[in-house]
Amino acid sequence: MTEEEKIFSGGVAVITGAGAGIGMGLARRCGEIGMTVVVTDIDKAKADKVAAEIVAKGGKAESIHVDVSKPEALDALAQDVFDRHGEVRLLINNAGIETIGYVWEIPVDRWEKTLNVNIHGVVHGVRAFVPHMLRVGKEAWIANLASIGSFGIMPTQTAYMISKHAIQSFSECLYLEMQVKKAPINVCSIIPGMLKTSIFDADQGEGEPDSSAQHRATMAHMMASYGMDLDEGCRRFVEGLAARKFWISSQPDMTDQSVAGRIAFFQSQEAPVLHDAAKSLLGLAD
Ligand SMILES: NC(=O)c1ccc[n+]([C@@H]2O[C@H](COP(=O)([O-])OP(=O)(O)OC[C@H]3O[C@@H](n4cnc5c(N)ncnc54)[C@H](O)[C@@H]3O)[C@@H](O)[C@H]2O)c1
Repeated sequence: MTEEEKIFSGGVAVITGAGAGIGMGLARRCGEIGMTVVVTDIDKAKADKVAAEIVAKGGKAESIHVDVSKPEALDALAQDVFDRHGEVRLLINNAGIETIGYVWEIPVDRWEKTLNVNIHGVVHGVRAFVPHMLRVGKEAWIANLASIGSFGIMPTQTAYMISKHAIQSFSECLYLEMQVKKAPINVCSIIPGMLKTSIFDADQGEGEPDSSAQHRATMAHMMASYGMDLDEGCRRFVEGLAARKFWISSQPDMTDQSVAGRIAFFQSQEAPVLHDAAKSLLGLAD
């Protein structure tokens, strides 16, 4: 039996945005190691498919429609899962969207959607589930999806970047709140470098300015060409969860590089500088 199976087998995992991408990869991995997986997504058909795939492989899974931008939907999810299963061992606040465009060109609706999904979806997932976890009193895990972008700066990906900076600091504060309360809840920050997913697909950019399409297409191409295999990345994430790590990176070298760049920037206290990768992405290369 692997360490992951020893710790998680027989437990319930609730994953948001699990109809595609990293959420789907994590759902598959949790199913493989013997968890009952509650596959939730705003797209119920996708969630159904992922749950059916886990069941077809001999695992346990169910699918539920949940839009994480609605706090009441997360309250209802937590109540329902605890009523039926009695406990949740692992909550993964994964759902997130990318938004590209100059700050002043992104319409209000897309701004609100980005902040509601990427920030409030995580905040209210925690707010809804923690009281039940504390009442049950058993060891549990909450993992929030940060990003390599949590430590970087990228013009025209501002909406996404600020949301991921927020999630990293949210998880750090939450970790300490659990320490203060001596709660048996492990808080983890999952930091994907780049995994092959659908986050940059053209149809995910609805409501972005037209000028964002080229940037989105370039990022989609980079992800398809250089991204890590989804299942390998998710295997690493679950391994990190079982090891009770706070920092869980798919590509630790990328995290180290990004964090080092941020530290150097803070220490210099100089104005931000447009780096070469950003210039090339924005079509400004010399
Ligand atoms: N792919 C990467 O390399 C990468 C890198 C850094 C961080 N991340 C983070 O990982 C998480 C997952 O990203 P991904 O790349 O798998 O994206 P993805 O677009 O492939 O999948 C996201 C899933 O979330 C669902 N979703 C979108 N809005 C939702 C909502 N309001 N409520 C519930 N579900 C919703 C979508 O239907 C989809 O199934 C995000 O938080 C993202 O910021 C990904």
